[in-house]
Parts: sequence; C-alpha cells; structure tokens
Amino acid sequence: MPAGSTCRICSGTLREFIDFGRQPLSNRFVRPEDIEGETFFRLATGICESCTMVQLMEEVPRELMFNEDYPYVSAGSSVMREHFASIARRFLNTHLKGEDTFAIELGSNDGTMLRTIADAGVRHLGVDPSGGVGETAREQGVRVLVDFFEKESAERIMAEDGPANVIYAANTLCHIPYLDSVFQGIALLLAKDGVFVFEDPYFGDVLRRNSFDQIYDEHYYYFTARSVQALAARYGLELVEVERLPVHGGEVRYTLAHAGARTPSLAVSELISEEDASGVAKLETLEAFSAKVDAIRDDLVGLLKDLKEQGKTVVAYGATAKSATVANYFGIGPDLVEFVCDTTPAKQGRLTPGMHIPVRPAQAFTDPYPDYALLFAWNHAEEIMAKEEGFRASGGRWIRYVPDVTVS
Ligand code: SAH
Ligand code: TMP
Ligand code: ZN
Repeated sequence: MPAGSTCRICSGTLREFIDFGRQPLSNRFVRPEDIEGETFFRLATGICESCTMVQLMEEVPRELMFNEDYPYVSAGSSVMREHFASIARRFLNTHLKGEDTFAIELGSNDGTMLRTIADAGVRHLGVDPSGGVGETAREQGVRVLVDFFEKESAERIMAEDGPANVIYAANTLCHIPYLDSVFQGIALLLAKDGVFVFEDPYFGDVLRRNSFDQIYDEHYYYFTARSVQALAARYGLELVEVERLPVHGGEVRYTLAHAGARTPSLAVSELISEEDASGVAKLETLEAFSAKVDAIRDDLVGLLKDLKEQGKTVVAYGATAKSATVANYFGIGPDLVEFVCDTTPAKQGRLTPGMHIPVRPAQAFTDPYPDYALLFAWNHAEEIMAKEEGFRASGGRWIRYVPDVTVS
C-alpha cells in the first residue's frame, strides 16, 4: 500500500497530525475460521499545507474494501431512510422537474435514495462497485451500474445516457482517493445548469466533537468548505451552497455547479470564515485534537477495566465501521466487551476486524440486558435510545466516548 507524503489533490506537502497505528479493514467482519488472513495498514491523517485538504497518509486498494461482500446497507437506520427520501423529494421538486431529466447517484448502495426517484418514474442511474448491495437496489426497481465511478465510467455513462441534471453522493466522495479522475467525470457529465450535491462527515464537527473514530480506512478525505472550494475550482466547478446536516455525527452537504452558472450563497463564505476563526487548518488545533484522543483512550479503557473488576457485564451496540478505530487503537477486545450487537445480517455471526469481538443480532442485547452498553453507533444515538428505552429502565447505563467519556 503506497505511503504518501504529498497531497492527493494538489501535490502540496502533507503534515501528519494523528497516527492510529496498525489497523484492519474496518468493514471486514471475519468468520471465526478466517482470522489468520486479515489485512492491516497504517491509519494516519495529514493536512495539506497548500490546499488544506485533510486526508489519509496511506491508501488501501479499493477492491479490498468495495466488492461483492461489502456489508454496509443504508437502510439499516430509519433516520437515514427518511433523510434520503427527503433529499430525493427535494430533487424531484427542483432540478428533476423538467422533461426527461436524469439523476445519477454515486455510491447508491442498496438503492435507499434512488428508490424514491425510480418510483417517480424519473430517469436515473446508481453507480456502485459493491455488487451485493447493488443487487438489493435492483430488487427495488433501481437501475444500477456495478462499477467504480471515475473518468472512464463517466465517459461510458455520458455516451449512453447523456448529461445529468443532478449528480448526488452521500458518504461516498470521502471514500474515493482518486478524486482527480472522479471530478473529471463529474465535470463531463454535469449538464450546463446541473448540480453536483455531496454530503460527508464534516471535519469541523470531527474537531468540535472529538469524533476521532470518523477516521478509518474508507474515509480517505475529511472535508471543509475551504478545501472543497479549492478542489472544485481545479475542475471548473464552483461551491455554491453548503448546509450543515445532523446525520452521522455532523455532516455538510456541498452543492457544486459549473463555474459562473449559479451565484454562491452567503452560507459558503460564512462557513469558510467560521472555519478560519476556529482554526480548523491550524497545526496547534490538530495537535490538541490528537492529544484529546489519547485522553479519551485512557478514560475509556480505565472505565472498562474497572467495570470488569467489579464483575459488571458490558456489551457494545452497533458494529460500525468507525468502531474498528476505537477498538483497535484503544485495545478493546472480547476481554472488555463481551459482544457487539448489530442489525446487519452480513455482520452477524462474524468477529469485528482486528479485535475479534463477536457480532450478534440485536435480540442478543435484550436477552438479558447487560449492565453497561458501549455505544459504538453513537452517530445513531437518538434512534437507538428511543428503540432501547427498556435498557435504562432495567437499570442499564450507556457508555459514550464522543466528545468525552460519559456514563448515563
Ligand atoms: N450512499 C450510501 C452508502 C454509503 S457507503 C449512504 O450514505 O448510506 C459508501 C458506498 O460507496 C459503498 O456502497 C461503496 O461501494 C461505494 N463506493 C466506493 N467507491 C466508489 C466509487 N468509486 N464510485 C461509486 N461508489 C463507490
Ligand atoms: P454507520 O455508523 O456506518 O451508519 O453504521 C451503523 C451500524 O449500526 C450498522 O451496522 C447498523 C447498526 N445499527 C444497529 O445495529 N441498530 C440500530 O438501531 C442502528 C440505527 C444501527
Ligand atoms: Zn493539497
């Protein structure tokens, strides 16, 4: 796996500010008989001294992460299902309103977003290299190209389907190291007055909430409005709108258009000013963040060891990709956390990457309730708390570690 010290966007110098050491592939849930063959890499992030893009120092080959067995499905959260239905309705009422409009989604996964657009009879195409989830999307009536989106696939789509009025990507652009090829494809495919809308975890929120576990192999980039604006400009595109989103622990939805086609909203310059004022690109801010992660580690591991000594039962909730960083960096294994429960069928019966905590179905949580639950899926806290009211009522307590270690 190539190690880089230059920016993947502009070739500027990268300055490393956090190193989680040796980590497994975050979504590779292993069968008990396969634990010998795990792949590891060094998980570390740096910031570009020129364009301020925060990115991983090492790249994992894409086929190792996104393939037939990719287990993550968008439909696993009811909040996300509503989130995607809502953005789809918004597109249908705006950019997709005219005659024979065309929408493309990059990272269409199980078709949760495109389903609404397909149901409305609007021309669309999902692009996703993970064949298993792609098949689920097709079963919902969604048209899918099982492939990596990049310049070459964009050229093929342009030849077959023509320009797109909307190109959308949620939690996908930050997964793609080769953005040069992707942006060439987008600039080619986007209709003159079309929009490219993408949403990803916001680096400003990662710093503000100490959500260090947003950093894992699949998240190659950690965007800010400033770094996205600079990125867009390299391809004749312009950042014209930003919206803060509450999902996944804090995201920003960026809208890009061909340069000069739309007037950028005030929100863009306001967010960039806010980023400058809070010092998101300053090395001292980044180093303070890194130190805070180590403090959280000491607190959480100390707490889990105390609970174990007291003979309490502790399980984890949500076998998230981001919990691979927490478990492996902090050294949390089955000795401290008995199992992790998760609703995703493809994860159940397997072991978490690296630390090998058994993954069990959601029902294991209630049967019987543990004394403590470590909330790995903290980004879905509201939804989970509402669903698991009985846990606290039975005397159980939630353990969180973002932004700080708390028991409640
Ligand atoms: N958009 C969904 C899925 C996010 S998971 C949601 O927000 O819930 C990221 C998805 O990106 C995976 O399904 C993965 O297969 C896909 N992906 C990775 N690289 C890609 C690429 N180059 N082009 C299109 N999709 C890609
Ligand atoms: P995510 O953080 O990448 O969205 O992953 C969330 C994981 O948590 C996913 O594996 C599904 C799981 N999950 C549950 O097990 N129960 C729940 O109620 C929710 C919302 C998620
Ligand atoms: Zn750069």
